[in-house]
Amino acid sequence: MKAKLIDGKTISAELRAQMKKEVAALAEDGITPGLAVVIVGDDPASKVYVRNKKKACEELGIYSEEYALPAETTQDELLALIRKLNTKPDIDGILVQLPLPKQLDEKAVIEAISPDKDVDAFSAANVGKIMIGDYKLLPCTPAGIMELIHASGVEVKGKECVVIGRSNIVGKPMAMLLLHEHGTVTICHSRTRDLSEVTRRADILIVAIGKAKFVTADMVKPGAVVIDVGMNRDENGKLCGDVDFDSVSEVAGAITPVPGGVGPMTITMLMKNTITAAGK
Ligand code: GUN
Repeated sequence: MKAKLIDGKTISAELRAQMKKEVAALAEDGITPGLAVVIVGDDPASKVYVRNKKKACEELGIYSEEYALPAETTQDELLALIRKLNTKPDIDGILVQLPLPKQLDEKAVIEAISPDKDVDAFSAANVGKIMIGDYKLLPCTPAGIMELIHASGVEVKGKECVVIGRSNIVGKPMAMLLLHEHGTVTICHSRTRDLSEVTRRADILIVAIGKAKFVTADMVKPGAVVIDVGMNRDENGKLCGDVDFDSVSEVAGAITPVPGGVGPMTITMLMKNTITAAGK
């Protein structure tokens, strides 16, 4: 393997150690950050995420509350809980685990969360702030990717940055954060013509499309920084990313593994957002 490995586990642990100190400093001022995590139904993957969020809070000294609601919860019941949490003084951040059961209107639920407590930064108000570069809270995955890029000593300024994927959660905010750091940014998606021609220009390539091993070595410029947001199962049921790691790591200059790359950063950034929301 030629590429330098961008180790999300180590970078995440370093950030958490630093945040633990920040939480301790806030405690001296009588402030304990508080996070409420709301989960509706019993999706097994969501349960794992929620458990990990709770564990991360405990590790850092952040107060957390979990609200596990039955799958048949109504929109009104969920909105009533959010309204209660919006005014609850010991809660600084509210996270509603997605996806929600289909009778619930996800968009309305996200918009019901007070923008100051929207630690996912999914609401229109927070997305708008990101767009104009005046934000406190950032969506966890793109924020985590920026931390990986910084920790690896990669400068974005003037670089060709290509983002594959245009979701509201990853692709779009990712492009905006790279733009704020003066990258020249291209967003690609399923209708992009001659994708390889575009990706081969990238100094920094962010892949968030949800297709196992989609990006192959011939699509990558030698020496490029490759960030893999994918979380898929390969033909043998093994966890893999959107990037064909074995071939791309022979061409790239630096690359994130899956697992152990972007994944460990997302909950760490949720903790960062909770601390930010508490310190306002
Ligand atoms: N489900 C999968 N990823 C996320 C996330 O980042 N935030 C929330 N709220 N739910 C998710």
